[in-house]
Amino acid sequence: MWKKWFGRSDQRSESSYGDLDPARVPRHVAIIMDGNGRWAQKRGLPRTFGHRAGAEALRAIVRTAAELGIGVLTTYAFSTENWKRPAEEVDLLMNLFSDYLDNEIEELNSNGIRVRFSGKTEELAAGLKAKIDRAEGVTAANERLVLNIAVNYGGRAEITHAVRLIAAAVAAGSLKAEDVSEEVISRHLYTAGLPDLDLLIRPAGDLRISNFLLWQAAYAEFWFTDINWPDFRPEHLIAAVADFQRRDRRFGGLTK
Ligand code: FPP
Repeated sequence: MWKKWFGRSDQRSESSYGDLDPARVPRHVAIIMDGNGRWAQKRGLPRTFGHRAGAEALRAIVRTAAELGIGVLTTYAFSTENWKRPAEEVDLLMNLFSDYLDNEIEELNSNGIRVRFSGKTEELAAGLKAKIDRAEGVTAANERLVLNIAVNYGGRAEITHAVRLIAAAVAAGSLKAEDVSEEVISRHLYTAGLPDLDLLIRPAGDLRISNFLLWQAAYAEFWFTDINWPDFRPEHLIAAVADFQRRDRRFGGLTK
């Protein structure tokens, strides 16, 4: 099944992953795809070229994540704050998402990838929303990798949304206030059913979380690089996973 992707000129052999421990691959990796604008600026190009190059960079990273055995890859594609950008840039991004769904779903599907979206997708244009629903439906049974794309996503908005759902359930009498647990809250997030975040990768040099996966990142390991997202390659993902495997994750406890 993977032959289709392996067959490309950017073919990567299994031995490239040789130093990684297959038993300790992070289950859930998230990436803040930052630095598209700076990548373009450096080349004297409009910012939109950076976003196009960023969409291209994503292809190899999805493929590598699946090959590594990562269970969930969440990518931050558009935040609830990104609407503040110029209309031309917002339009370009929306068109990029739409093109991605038009052009990539078949290949993602044939490679066993389940596509999910996290965010207020109901606020997106009807045409894009329909493509999102279709992509989620078509790939729903796939189990190799979940590609979770965060669009119109904000961590605080997500928690607020969950609280509203829970409050409504309590008001309706279907849930008791004393039964609201961390598990119940997790089940009402956009990421319901996905494991907590293990590894958060942020390219482009900024050292902050930017309202991304606030609840899910409680015990995530962070990995930063100065490389701009369009230049992010499989070897960077592999380096981040290798670093992750060297971390001592204690979850508030003591080293075993
Ligand atoms: C942040 O870089 C990036 C974004 C707001 C958009 C991310 C979107 C993509 C990579 C497009 C592809 C995604 C999919 C799902 C097809 P920035 O513009 O803030 O960069 P800067 O900080 O250098 O200005």
